[in-house]
Amino acid sequence: MKGLILSGGKGTRLYPITYTSAKQLVPVANKPVLFRVIEAIRDAGIEEIGIVVGDTAAEVKKAVGSGTRWGAKITYIRQEAPLGLAHAVKISADFLGVDRFVMFLGDNVIQGGISSLIREFENNDWNSQIVLTRVAHPEQYGVAEMDADGNIIRLIEKPKEPPSDLALVGIYMFDHHIMEAVNSIKPSWRGELEITDAIQWLIDHGYRVRPYIHTGWWIDTGAPGDLLDANGLVLEELTPRIEGYVDRGSQVDGRVTAERGAEIINSVVRGPTIIGQDTRIVNSYVGPFTSIYHHVLIENSEIEHSIVMENSKIVDVPVRIEGSVIGRNVEITKSPLKPRAYKLTLGDNSKVGLVVNGG
Ligand code: TTP
Repeated sequence: MKGLILSGGKGTRLYPITYTSAKQLVPVANKPVLFRVIEAIRDAGIEEIGIVVGDTAAEVKKAVGSGTRWGAKITYIRQEAPLGLAHAVKISADFLGVDRFVMFLGDNVIQGGISSLIREFENNDWNSQIVLTRVAHPEQYGVAEMDADGNIIRLIEKPKEPPSDLALVGIYMFDHHIMEAVNSIKPSWRGELEITDAIQWLIDHGYRVRPYIHTGWWIDTGAPGDLLDANGLVLEELTPRIEGYVDRGSQVDGRVTAERGAEIINSVVRGPTIIGQDTRIVNSYVGPFTSIYHHVLIENSEIEHSIVMENSKIVDVPVRIEGSVIGRNVEITKSPLKPRAYKLTLGDNSKVGLVVNGG
């Protein structure tokens, strides 16, 4: 089998972070989501991996390289515009050939990996297998309807009256018949070739599409709240290790990871939390569910439930920061000038929640 990872797209829900970089490279527990996807596929025994890339192709290629680091062989497939998940399959025809493959959205994180579902698909002659999970609000997802034999007979996008609570996760397995499907369907109202339409085409033409019900957590990190949820869940599964330096004046609990070259000075750090390489935490509080990436400085400040990316500085901030996603090279400091005022330099579509005295 081969692997196909979708790492193009626009990432509008993560603006402004994704103006300047690929959303699949946003670190969750200090590792880009895309690296987690590559590892999940490789751990399932698949070494030939195609990555569909768009406008952020150069950045993705630079970060991932040839794949030797994971013992994988990576082929990049350029998608000229984000014309849909089925379009991504269509342009990958040369890479896929007649092999069976797993398609994985490059911004999704799944608990427990994908080895068991890959085995199940390999051991059966189904034409496709779709990963589903039970959700509380199926009306917000793509939902599957099954017949009495457990075959998928219909996929419905955001149904008003859901036929089940089984929603599509961003993982699909196909044999080569999917090529006929993606070449036959027409773009949807939003101008994209939809993978749900391609799967429906398979069903309508007599091919067998089976469900795989995933029971652990699964998160699409496409929006800031989901990104923070994924960060918390992955942090909870991390085996803590202290490779950096913690001084005697600091309190660091047993669920904290401090990577090589990290320094924690006169601070309180509560896990699950990860402090990245060469990052300094000085006279500060870092609360649970926080990932601070490499070369960051947090000084005289408090932060929790957040992600801070590389080379940023948070210094002398008088109010605790929480539930925040802070990009690269960001500086948050106390304004040294009178009158007392917020001084902001924010990119388009930034979101800031200010604490106002008395309300
Ligand atoms: P989405 O999250 O559905 O789309 P998007 O990345 O454009 O994000 P937003 O809705 O915030 O604008 O895409 C799911 C994954 O598939 C993501 O990793 C990007 C990738 N993708 C492609 O590679 N090609 C495509 O044509 C599309 C639509 C998505």
